[in-house]
Amino acid sequence: MLSSLYVSAVLAASLSAVTAQTFQRLGTCPTLGCVLPPDQQDFLPGQQFDIRFEVHAPKNGSEAFNGGVPDDKFTATISKDGRSPKTISSFFKISEPAIEKWTFSWFEDLFAKDAKTPSVVNVASKVYRRVALYEPGTYTVTLKYYSGKTTTATWAVRPLATKKKAKNVIFFIGDGMTTNMITAARLLAHKTVNGKYQSLLQLDKFPVLGHQMTHSIDSFITDSANSASALYSGHKSTVNAMGVYADSSPDAFDDPKVETIVELLKRIWGSAWGAVSTAFIADATPIALTAHTRLRSQYGALIEQALNGVTNYSWPSAGGPDAYFGGGAEQFLPGPGSYKGKDYYAEFAKHGYSVSLNKTGLLAAPNNKKALGIFCKSNLPVWLDRNIFPENTKKLNNTPSGASGTATDLPGLKDMTLKAIDVLHTRAGKGGFFLMAEAASIDKQMHVLDYERALGDLLELDDTVQATIAKLKALGELEETLIVVSADHGHGFDVFGSSDTKYMAAQDDDRAKRDAIGVYLNSGLSQYTSPPPSGNVSYGTGPNFPLNWDPRYVIAAGLGANPDHREQYGVDKSGPRVPAEPVTDDDEDYYVNPTDRPHGFVVNGTLPTDQAQGVHSLTDVPVYAMGPCQDSFGGTYSNIDVFYKMAECLGLGQPTNKTITDKGRRH
Ligand SMILES: *[C@@H]1O[C@H](CO)[C@@H](O)[C@H](O)[C@H]1NC(C)=O
Ligand SMILES: *[C@@H]1O[C@H](CO)[C@@H](O)[C@H](O)[C@H]1NC(C)=O
Ligand SMILES: *[C@@H]1O[C@H](CO)[C@@H](O)[C@H](O)[C@H]1NC(C)=O
Ligand SMILES: *[C@@H]1O[C@H](CO)[C@@H](O)[C@H](O)[C@H]1NC(C)=O
Ligand SMILES: *[C@@H]1O[C@H](CO)[C@@H](O)[C@H](O)[C@H]1NC(C)=O
Ligand SMILES: *[C@@H]1O[C@H](CO)[C@@H](O)[C@H](O)[C@H]1NC(C)=O
Ligand SMILES: [Zn+2]
Repeated sequence: MLSSLYVSAVLAASLSAVTAQTFQRLGTCPTLGCVLPPDQQDFLPGQQFDIRFEVHAPKNGSEAFNGGVPDDKFTATISKDGRSPKTISSFFKISEPAIEKWTFSWFEDLFAKDAKTPSVVNVASKVYRRVALYEPGTYTVTLKYYSGKTTTATWAVRPLATKKKAKNVIFFIGDGMTTNMITAARLLAHKTVNGKYQSLLQLDKFPVLGHQMTHSIDSFITDSANSASALYSGHKSTVNAMGVYADSSPDAFDDPKVETIVELLKRIWGSAWGAVSTAFIADATPIALTAHTRLRSQYGALIEQALNGVTNYSWPSAGGPDAYFGGGAEQFLPGPGSYKGKDYYAEFAKHGYSVSLNKTGLLAAPNNKKALGIFCKSNLPVWLDRNIFPENTKKLNNTPSGASGTATDLPGLKDMTLKAIDVLHTRAGKGGFFLMAEAASIDKQMHVLDYERALGDLLELDDTVQATIAKLKALGELEETLIVVSADHGHGFDVFGSSDTKYMAAQDDDRAKRDAIGVYLNSGLSQYTSPPPSGNVSYGTGPNFPLNWDPRYVIAAGLGANPDHREQYGVDKSGPRVPAEPVTDDDEDYYVNPTDRPHGFVVNGTLPTDQAQGVHSLTDVPVYAMGPCQDSFGGTYSNIDVFYKMAECLGLGQPTNKTITDKGRRH
């Protein structure tokens, strides 16, 4: 007795020393018994999910336990509000699943990684698939293992919301967009006179503004996969995971799933839904609406899930998008990028989709049919290159048809969003529609420190929001549509002054070049809002965008996290930036790219030297809301609350299982 207590005290001490930092055995599981969903998770009444239990037996390393033999006789119970606990299978009235076993390994810290000594863990597990909790309240799940150890998870089922208050929801996501970027974009596109703005961003005119905290479930810096998933499902997850709680098994598709907003909307209201993105459409933010995997890089399989749902487990399908527009032809052309090498243009067409490959085709597509539009390989070229420096788009070999050459006749975010609204409005019945529209390259261009290209795409988002409001008004749908504009995470970007590009280029050494930067009084005023002196306005488009993207005095800006690079400030007319490069092709050690910003000065990096780009940062991000339920979006809250606020407004809570099949009540 004494000795086993001693062992567990030592174990507890060593566990707290190795968990939750650079490497984690399983982020949501600091002890050797894991409950997924873990402690502190919230649920919408009736939202379907899977439950997984894992018992870990580390074979070696600092946690070595039980000779590496996992307890496969573990038991688990659930109880509501302190009532007597029931086994999982009796509580949910489902049969007891079989035990699964596997082995995985991980590094406990950087020393172990350098020494190439992974710790090996044997696992026994059970998964209970497709259950739901209907009664609001507090549930306690208890896992008992190794004769006497317990892991407890407390779950909260939130109060019911069965009344549908908004017919439609349009959710705009500026990927990586922060308040600082919005402030900079306003400075570029809107003129001030003696400190007073003469016009404003559309976002500035929203009636309600809130703040969301973006942390992942097991790290304080998030990626776009699990942050999108938190916004769409009300469940946080791990970096790279979407629509699941990440488990430790080798299969990236067997992790315990959670139902997403479009799956709920389809099941409960039969709503139409769509996704629009300037990224490849299998990228995290658009694909997380339907994806259930721990690995966001499974692009081909995730397009299959978007079209047909999860097919190898019983799971509610979102029925395939009604409108699906973006880049990423690689996952549609038959070949290595598509699921099982199939032609996904043909697969979508078989399901009754119109397929368009350019803007002309998109605008001509019938509004009463499901619509797929894939306009290039990879991401769409950014707004700045499509509109101001179009020669840059001609360098790309990116046709969506797979023929060699350049994708031409490209739509922008506004074209895709307005067309998606036409299709969704036409196809939606009483159940209304849900549309997610993503400005993806705010993030992608901030990663490569290309501030102007990022801000151009932010202004494109703002212009799209403005056009969306006008469109909804024209359709008579504005009063019934909740519009939310937010981000999934930020980057540590800000503007701290202006820079005289002419003076900087004329200086020879790095320290003298820095004298070109004007701070405080010398920052002066924005020169982007006036036409160039020559009257050549072809570097700008006005209104809602700068009149001149290439003034002599430009914004001096930076990021809190960056690789080695050179700063020159001002737009790069030759195309998106590559700030750092490896010394040799097979090297993972990044230095200043010798050809980037040749007139600038060197800024040494703050990131590990294997990082070629900037990274996401900790900041909270803004949430703008307009329409039914707008007031619920004020204040500061977690990213999962964005889901619960939308779900509340859409009446997605269900009081009993019966209502799932009781179509009459819901239509
Ligand atoms: C654990 O055992 C494996 C071999 O099974 C070995 O490769 C690894 O280095 C060991 N790790 C530690 C931390 O001893
Ligand atoms: C709902 O009830 C049906 C039987 O009426 C059952 O087959 C199904 O598994 C239940 N679903 C959930 C999520 O509880
Ligand atoms: C389950 O389906 C996914 C695609 O949705 C696929 O990639 C995966 O291999 C499948 N797993 C099994 C065990 O069939
Ligand atoms: C647009 O795509 C259609 C086929 O999808 C093609 O026939 C047409 O030539 C394309 N137009 C342009 C301008 O590329
Ligand atoms: C106007 O700007 C364009 C760039 O879009 C440039 O090619 C052209 O030379 C400029 N014309 C004058 C007169 O500066
Ligand atoms: C700073 O950057 C310069 C240029 O790439 C490089 O030579 C120098 O080693 C860097 N210093 C550090 C501390 O990384
Ligand atoms: Zn990113």
